Amino acid sequence: MAVAIDLARESAAPTAPTAPSRRRAPTTRKSTHTSRETELVPSLGGPLAPWWKLVPRRYGHVLHAMCSYMGMFPPALPRYFIEQYTQRGDLVVDPFSGRGTTALEACLLGRQGVGVDLNPLAALLTSAKVDPPSREEALTRLRELERSFSKKKITEAPPPEIAMLFDQRKTLPQLSYLREHLEPAHRREDRFILAAITGILHGNHPRNPWDSRCLSVSMPNTFSMSPGYLRKYIRENKLKKYPFDAFEKIAQRIEHLYQEGVAPARGRGVQDDALSLGQHVAKNSAKLVVTSPPYLNVVRYGKFNWIRLWMLRESVQRVDASLADRTRTNLEVERTDRQLGLSDRLGFRKYTAFLEEAVCRVADVLRDDGVCVMTIGDVENGEYDKRLGLDAWAAIERRVPLKLQTVIEDRLVTENKVSRIWGENKGRATRVDRVLVLTKGDSMPTANFADPREIVRTMAELTPGAMRSIPDEA
Ligand SMILES: C[S@@+](CC[C@H](N)C(=O)[O-])C[C@H]1O[C@@H](n2cnc3c(N)ncnc32)[C@H](O)[C@@H]1O
Repeated sequence: MAVAIDLARESAAPTAPTAPSRRRAPTTRKSTHTSRETELVPSLGGPLAPWWKLVPRRYGHVLHAMCSYMGMFPPALPRYFIEQYTQRGDLVVDPFSGRGTTALEACLLGRQGVGVDLNPLAALLTSAKVDPPSREEALTRLRELERSFSKKKITEAPPPEIAMLFDQRKTLPQLSYLREHLEPAHRREDRFILAAITGILHGNHPRNPWDSRCLSVSMPNTFSMSPGYLRKYIRENKLKKYPFDAFEKIAQRIEHLYQEGVAPARGRGVQDDALSLGQHVAKNSAKLVVTSPPYLNVVRYGKFNWIRLWMLRESVQRVDASLADRTRTNLEVERTDRQLGLSDRLGFRKYTAFLEEAVCRVADVLRDDGVCVMTIGDVENGEYDKRLGLDAWAAIERRVPLKLQTVIEDRLVTENKVSRIWGENKGRATRVDRVLVLTKGDSMPTANFADPREIVRTMAELTPGAMRSIPDEA
């Protein structure tokens, strides 16, 4: 009998066609596709993979949504592999941790989750989620900061592009004070409070603005529009700055984030280069890596988070330069892309060189019976389609000590992705992710569940009211 799972709000069936791109020109495929796409491993769901797509999209602990993050994958994806290939206490790692999806999901399942990311915002979010204070510790510290608040203790005047976003008598002084007096490098409570602030720093107002959970004028929450655009937008729409009480809204946010309790295990979030993974994770220690490396020249994490980075006391330019420099692709490729159109191939060479090194570092820390799951989105720019994951693997396969077991095709509905903010004329929103399943040994280790439906059922049960039909036969 099929298990019914309500799909009321679910739009992406595993085999659903992707939304057509209006601008998409006839394409020339230049990829070296492998036939592995069809060689699906039965325990990974056989022809019904990807199984995690059967799970309601709103599945996920409330902490995952602490702050939006570009390029994040759904919690059901790492959960599926954690359930299938690890035991309680095992080490699960993500060298490109982003908002910490893999690491948090691991801790929620009693595994040790470690996330490494070069972006300070990503490292903060990961570490706040996997190593949180208790609810009481977080609230006590917030009250302590509120008691000691004084405008006289603020030493740095906020720049005009920040001042235009917040009420200057109440909200902005409170934020400026917190920015200068929180000690995220030394205190776990402060990391959590700061991470909680990043999620509510800016966002759209509801019908009654006083009910807003965010602190800024009404603007998108997922990313920061450019200062110039925002200035015009605020002026033209006569946006009002409400004197929100930052301490009150942060306290409400903390209560919200603790409503589902904390994970039974702790982990670590580290700010560093994925290529330095060995400095944070011991050799042959990780049972599972679930990761998604940076895209080929798509996301400017600094630029799109300039308001949050102000709160973190980080420089936007430094963040973008360090990410571009370390991946040795982004900025340079962006420039040549605009001039040459097809110059993706230049970026591709650099990208694969980076990926090769990253995969070698992952192999160093992976146990002999370990599994590495790497999801890489296709690149499309209207003139040149690239199945980036497959092409990149074909380019590095002979030089890395991991073996490809299968590739699972994960079709995404582009409208659901944060990347839709670039609009269709940017032409680069991911439409298909290739999920590469790699091992250190010759074959896949034995899976915990012969029938993947058991994992899907558990996840569906955690998302009440969301039902879909799970097929009888695996
Ligand atoms: C596609 S995102 C990963 C998102 C993540 N899976 C999640 O669910 O949030 C890629 C990440 O790689 C990070 N990154 C880029 N270059 C890096 C490097 N050299 N070392 C570590 N992280 C890097 C970016 O900051 C970004 O967070």
